[in-house]
Amino acid sequence: MGQINTCIFDAYGTLFDVNAAARAVAEMPGQAGFAAIWQQVAADWRAKQLQYTWLRTLTGAHCDFWQVTQDGLDWALERSGHQDPALRTQLLDLYRHLPAYPEAMGVLAAVKQAGIARAILSNGSPDMLAAAVTSAGIGDLLDHVLSVEDVGRFKPHPAVYDMVGARFGTAPDQVLFVSSNGWDIAGAAAYGFQTIWINRAGDPVDRMPGRPAAIGRDLTAVTEKLGL
Ligand code: LAC
Repeated sequence: MGQINTCIFDAYGTLFDVNAAARAVAEMPGQAGFAAIWQQVAADWRAKQLQYTWLRTLTGAHCDFWQVTQDGLDWALERSGHQDPALRTQLLDLYRHLPAYPEAMGVLAAVKQAGIARAILSNGSPDMLAAAVTSAGIGDLLDHVLSVEDVGRFKPHPAVYDMVGARFGTAPDQVLFVSSNGWDIAGAAAYGFQTIWINRAGDPVDRMPGRPAAIGRDLTAVTEKLGL
């Protein structure tokens, strides 16, 4: 294994809390109906958003992540019986400004302090990522924000992981790839990156050829792995 000189973070679910939009609406006054179902809506929204990325890459029908985010939400809201246009708008507005997990800023700052390069590599479209990075206040802690839009395919297509070497000139085994998405870790590990799976939910490891090299419960596993 090479000496790690670059730390690459997935965005949605890893740095940014993807359930925060639906949770925030559920906590608003007058939202008792949505509060009763928000967890199912959030889970369906995320599941469909991701399925659509894989299906669109497999079928050669790429669109950007904002489109699959809207399509996934529409499916989830229809299933829930809450097809309210105002609710849809509110959820999408909140999705553009998802909060970072509480430990994210401290971990990024420590990695920066150690002189290790840092970037996001995400399915997100450049405008979505710019909005999220700005509202979370982590822009100064990142060298680059890499979007799959540059290659027109979604993760885990290897063309996406190729973007890291192209930008940083590193070999895959000098890269520590951090994601909360088990399938993204499987893709990144098979590609040859060193990996940490941030397994917040305590899920089983995906049955795929690439296995996580390390598993943590939150992003502090990154500083631990790097000995910071
Ligand atoms: C991303 C998705 C996987 O940020 O959440 O790439």
